[in-house]
Amino acid sequence: MEKRIYLNDHWRFCETFREEMLKKEFDASQLEEVRLPHTCKEVPYHYFDEHIYQMVSGYVRTIEAKEEWRGKEILLTIDGAAHYSEVFLNGEKVGEHHCGYTAFTIRLTEKLLYGQKNTLVVKVDSRENLNIPPFGYVIDYMTYGGIYRDVYLDIKNESYLSDVFVKPEVFLTKEKKAATAKARLASEISLNQMKPQLYARQSLRKRGLLVLEQQGEKEPFQLLGEAELCEGGNELSFELDEVELWSTDVPVLYELKTELLEDGTVIDEKVVRFGFRKAEFRTDGFYLNGEKFKIRGLNRHQSYPYVGYAMPESMQKWDADLLKRELGLNAVRTSHYPQSHYFLNRCDEIGLLVFTEIPGWQHIGDAAWKDQAVENVKDMVLQYRNHTSIILWGVRINESQDDDDFYKRTNEMAHRLDDTRPTGGVRAHKKSSLLEDVYTYNDFVHAGNNMGCEPKKNVTSDMSKPYLISEYNGHMYPTKTFDWEEHRVEHAMRHANVLNAVMGETDIAGSFGWCMFDYNTHKDFGSGDRICYHGVMDMFRNPKLAAIIYQCQQEKESVLELSSTMDIGEHPGCNRGSTYIFTNADSVRMYKNDRFIKEYTKEHSPYPNLLHGPILIDDFIGNAIEEGEKFTKKQAETVKKIMNATARYGLSNLPKSIYLMGLHLILRYHMKPTEAVVLYNKYIGDWGGTSTTYRFEAIKDGKVVKTIVKEPMTSLQIVAETDHQFLKEKTSYDVAAVRIKAVDENQNLLSFFEEPVCFKTEGPIELIGPSVTTLRGGMGGTYVKTTGESGKARLFIKNEQAEELVIEFNCECN
Ligand code: GAL
Repeated sequence: MEKRIYLNDHWRFCETFREEMLKKEFDASQLEEVRLPHTCKEVPYHYFDEHIYQMVSGYVRTIEAKEEWRGKEILLTIDGAAHYSEVFLNGEKVGEHHCGYTAFTIRLTEKLLYGQKNTLVVKVDSRENLNIPPFGYVIDYMTYGGIYRDVYLDIKNESYLSDVFVKPEVFLTKEKKAATAKARLASEISLNQMKPQLYARQSLRKRGLLVLEQQGEKEPFQLLGEAELCEGGNELSFELDEVELWSTDVPVLYELKTELLEDGTVIDEKVVRFGFRKAEFRTDGFYLNGEKFKIRGLNRHQSYPYVGYAMPESMQKWDADLLKRELGLNAVRTSHYPQSHYFLNRCDEIGLLVFTEIPGWQHIGDAAWKDQAVENVKDMVLQYRNHTSIILWGVRINESQDDDDFYKRTNEMAHRLDDTRPTGGVRAHKKSSLLEDVYTYNDFVHAGNNMGCEPKKNVTSDMSKPYLISEYNGHMYPTKTFDWEEHRVEHAMRHANVLNAVMGETDIAGSFGWCMFDYNTHKDFGSGDRICYHGVMDMFRNPKLAAIIYQCQQEKESVLELSSTMDIGEHPGCNRGSTYIFTNADSVRMYKNDRFIKEYTKEHSPYPNLLHGPILIDDFIGNAIEEGEKFTKKQAETVKKIMNATARYGLSNLPKSIYLMGLHLILRYHMKPTEAVVLYNKYIGDWGGTSTTYRFEAIKDGKVVKTIVKEPMTSLQIVAETDHQFLKEKTSYDVAAVRIKAVDENQNLLSFFEEPVCFKTEGPIELIGPSVTTLRGGMGGTYVKTTGESGKARLFIKNEQAEELVIEFNCECN
């Protein structure tokens, strides 16, 4: 039976590979000991040269091949090494791989010395002059280096199941939302070698639901049937009367167990987890289980501060959780390469749809380069096709030009290896040659004051084929957490504008915004500090204002946020500008110095297509003038309108209609401008007056579910949260993310607090990154990782102006 042994610990690493590492007498103990996932170079947060991670490095490890492995098949898998690897066993080259984003497996069976210690050396080239995708020209993301995913050995019997591709097909009876359906469960079974008299037996069980985090009881496997295996492809198929469907709301998973039998004995077994779902791109959009479904996603890179790509399971899963649960999205595009299976597994578990694609960025290389790209399609599809969450294969180099011969090959490869999913391929030009099933296009038309997206007919070269927007915003409006307020608001509004426009286009399948979080990039891009500030979150995954736009589109968690701190001094001329309420509540009540001003509902939002769009605050007065002054009702209304417009635009930028209203008051009622100033100071009271306290209450089902208070801060607090406190080493070390922010006594973010915070650890954890950092835009973060020892650990976070914080961790290691 299969046995998997993870080889993530006890590696020795050297930044410079040397031939002598391949010699028997080489003493690796002089090298640094490292654990995987590993980055060949830890990098600063920003302002560094991307050449520092470009090197040919060496990893050395001992494998003790047990005597009892003799006669078995021994397979070594490296899940991800960036970017060009050569593998040596006992000094002899046993394999190589030319892609930093796909896994590769090497058969060690005949090369291992059984009952002895063997030396495994991996030479990893992370230079960017390699003639493989994505290299060859400029790239807008750092590509890092090292063995950054798991490495493991599989010990198998002489005959084994090399793959089981599960192809569930769902038959929907009626075109309406259903939780169950009839299904056919087909699977393609591949063996490493064919022998007579080999049988496959399959059984099925529903996997405990991961809905609401409940693992649930595991059901026993139910036998489906068995069949003799024969030369030339084996497909088993079973009809099922009723299965529970996988959806983004209720992602029900099943497990198909395939046993390989020889002479009645089980000699191998593979369990594939999957869901039953019908995902279709049609001419007029995307359909999930027969229902029209608007894809709402963001693009995700797989990078983190300091360690680049090298983060273990928990951090991969956390990103999926953030996308689904914190940002309320239903989809992600893994730009611009296949990402960790831990990330994809989590997408399967929580119901997050995935568009994944081959590595590449705009540039297409020579014939050898293209061959590698076709190979990458093959590896991507073969390695990822059992992930239910994946609904589309990206088989073009992101934003490359047309190249029909090349793209015929990539399309054919994907279709040949997976006849259950369509292909797409991201381009940045309109009406290009469409060899794919879905036209996927980066629509950057939105510039703040124009249309949110292009209509389908302007873009696609074939109206009968489906259309999906694969990117928007991003470089059109880079935004830092420490930009001034109006800039951050504009960033948020642009995301709202595009989302709203896409929702209004009934024949667009949906969209993926650029992008989930800020990322380190090459010298040719970004803000000069090697960061592209394109995220709706910062690099530590702290939300910017734009993140709130997405959060509002879900209804599980109540959201209430204001686009402004209400500090007028942050605005030109001290005019408020436009202030928005971001909420998913039924209504929001606004109070000024405890006086009720107005109750806003969804209908006040100028975003008709959004479930919960931003709401503009258009009244800072309420009925105060009517009650407090001797005006007629109509007069009071006019005065109020003028005051509110002045607060928003400032005197010099008032719309013409407002000027006319003012003139009317002067001529008809003989009001003097000086009186107007008195009224303004009294009822708006911004510049020159004492500050105001604002309170907002979000109401849901008649109850106040959230309150925010905006008033000048008097005390500063540092708060921090971690994604998990129980750290467990499973296949490798574990990492917890810590997000930190400075807030006032009302828990409002202090956006311009950029002071140092110091970290200290106690117990079996280590920091990733520096022990002193500054907050940026009032936010920051760090990571702690386990050390291989169990016990209680603590992280201390100290800033001079605030009380020291302590986060406790519990570490469990084998
Ligand atoms: C696109 C590209 C992305 C990113 C983005 C920034 O052209 O596909 O990788 O660079 O622009 O907006």
